[in-house]
Amino acid sequence: MESIFSDPKKQTMLSGVQPTGIFTLGNYIGAIKNWRKVQNDYNCLYFIANLHSLTVRNDPQKLKKLTLDCVALLLACGIDIEKSILFIQSHVPEHTELSWVLQCYTQFGELTRMTQFKDKSAKNADNVNAGLFGYPVLMAADILIYQSDFVPIGADQKQHLELTRDIANRFNNLYGETFNLPNPYIPQSGGRVMSLANPTSKMSKSDKNLNGFISVLDPPDVIINKFKKAVTDSESKIYYSDEKPGISNLLTIYSVLANLEMSEVEEKFRDKGYGEFKLAVGELVAETLKPIQDKYNQLSKDKKYLQEICDQGAKKASSIAQKTLKSVYEKIGI
Ligand code: TRP
Repeated sequence: MESIFSDPKKQTMLSGVQPTGIFTLGNYIGAIKNWRKVQNDYNCLYFIANLHSLTVRNDPQKLKKLTLDCVALLLACGIDIEKSILFIQSHVPEHTELSWVLQCYTQFGELTRMTQFKDKSAKNADNVNAGLFGYPVLMAADILIYQSDFVPIGADQKQHLELTRDIANRFNNLYGETFNLPNPYIPQSGGRVMSLANPTSKMSKSDKNLNGFISVLDPPDVIINKFKKAVTDSESKIYYSDEKPGISNLLTIYSVLANLEMSEVEEKFRDKGYGEFKLAVGELVAETLKPIQDKYNQLSKDKKYLQEICDQGAKKASSIAQKTLKSVYEKIGI
């Protein structure tokens, strides 16, 4: 059988991102940089999870724009459509079809136990909709429909991946081998980037303190200024330690972006002051993001090209998804 990927023997990696806005440096270091890196070693599928975004209220025009912005940004960050399949979730209707089937193999009690559901329903008490409740099942469908081997995800999504495996196992036990069981993918490098203003909490684009996060589209002078203001401690010695969350966060960022071991970065800045170190980190971040920003500005002007990429991606994804859906329907008598 002809494969969509040039080397069908490689294992499949899949991940999705919600179109909630321009990524932060935290998203870039924690996820997207690795998405780019693994493209040579795995057959990768990356998509914009716009259906998952419907679980909270959105402005329709804004959702549409953010979805295409997200495509441009992923391309600018190095997702290569010659190697990987890049698409928009809603363009491949097999996801929602499979999601309905899987809902019938998921227990109410299982979904009630999801900690993200508990957190989100506490935060949105006035809109605890069925979509929010079923969110993990759509995610399971996203993963299982491509027979994914690996899913790179953050700690907050781990429980959803475990549920995905439980659902797949249950289905396989009832009807015979149908779904491949996915594993979490833990990247070798990367790491959790913390807020520059409050280094004990994760960097987030919804931070009210704008100095807390770096958007990948922040101009160089803004980036450098935010790093100059980064909260540190009063010791004035540069080394990695849990007691020094601010300095450790800056060290992590530097080590990932410069491709150096933590000990090498510590050595490099051992005799330097905090001011000089913060400036060096800010400059490295600005320098790293500059080509991404240039590419993004160029791509986001060409909506027609972006639409074409999405159409192509959806076609390729669909041709894989259809095979899984067909075998599922046959097994359950649909
Ligand atoms: N729920 C994920 C998030 O908010 C996005 C997502 C949707 C996803 N479907 C997925 C991630 C499938 C990995 C695999 O981050």
